[in-house]
Amino acid sequence: MTPTPTSTKTLTLPRPDDWHLHLRDGDMLDVVTPETAAQFGRALIMPNLVPPVVSGAEAEAYRSRIMAAVPVGLDFTPMMTLYLTETTDADDLVAAAQSGLVTAVKLYPAGATTNSASGVRDIDKVMPVLEAMADAGVPLCVHGEVTDPQVDIFDREAVFIERVLDPVRRRIPRLRVVMEHVTTSDGIDYVRDGGPDIAATITTHHLFINRNHILAGGIRPHYYCLPVAKRETHRIALVEAATSGLPGFFLGTDSAPHLDSAKLAECGCAGIYTAPNTLACLAQMFEQHDALAKLEGFVSGHGAAFYGVPVNAGTVMLERVDTPQPVPAPRSTPEGMLTVFDPGVPIHWRVRT
Ligand code: NCD
Ligand code: ZN
Repeated sequence: MTPTPTSTKTLTLPRPDDWHLHLRDGDMLDVVTPETAAQFGRALIMPNLVPPVVSGAEAEAYRSRIMAAVPVGLDFTPMMTLYLTETTDADDLVAAAQSGLVTAVKLYPAGATTNSASGVRDIDKVMPVLEAMADAGVPLCVHGEVTDPQVDIFDREAVFIERVLDPVRRRIPRLRVVMEHVTTSDGIDYVRDGGPDIAATITTHHLFINRNHILAGGIRPHYYCLPVAKRETHRIALVEAATSGLPGFFLGTDSAPHLDSAKLAECGCAGIYTAPNTLACLAQMFEQHDALAKLEGFVSGHGAAFYGVPVNAGTVMLERVDTPQPVPAPRSTPEGMLTVFDPGVPIHWRVRT
């Protein structure tokens, strides 16, 4: 009997970019870098190592370690960020950006997320650096959550916009800003109404999960990330923005690998590893919303335009298959297992390699 053909449809896109990615260091870097490099042309690399990537020299050294982990023959360019601290040297930062070494600077409010202890406590202390960045055209990527213990964790993004982001943008209107991993309709509205110098990255997992996925019917640490997934109305707003075709919204997976032992702990780490199945999941979500034609802008076009780089020359091909694809198996690392994101719905797409 001849086997039934399983491939019904394909979609070829310019090689996409991931505008928010954690590659870590050491053994983990070696395991996860090839998974992104296999599918993406570029990624904006987050600097929250321990210790963080603060200076141009540190970014250069980190970039070399990443390049050493990219398999030969894959066309992948890591674009580097610096981690903003209250003692960041503005001259070093601007020189690193002007030489092309560094693409953007990341603001972590101190204590907001994984490895953010060296982040900013008092935004006034970094205003001179932000002024220098605005003058030099260096974008600021923000982790948009306040850390005030009085503020409920589900409200921290909306309060950040009001207390920090909007005041900073009023003081320095020329500053270009990316609201990273936006999770609320408040964030979506703020970005949509504020362009073109503000944009937002949207993760894959926030398009699929709401807070019930984390908490209903048992606690599921593999769905815990920061900013934490919000209620369903916010997820719907994110899907609408991602599939809207608006240039201010683009993919930043925030793929954030942590060993299972660190996730499944009494105090588990925040972060979801989505790099291996991100494109397949996105194709599924965009198809479901009759928006496959908008996927190219979201993954390959809008971010490149915001960052002023050409769309990648190569392509990636996605194919639709009748049989739902299994969730990729946990990855084995020298220090333990690494679980891949389970979108919780059947995925009929895969990347053809
Ligand atoms: C990220 C990490 O693990 O580095 N975690 C996460 O939940 N997203 C940090 C971050 O981007 O907040
Ligand atoms: Zn992140």
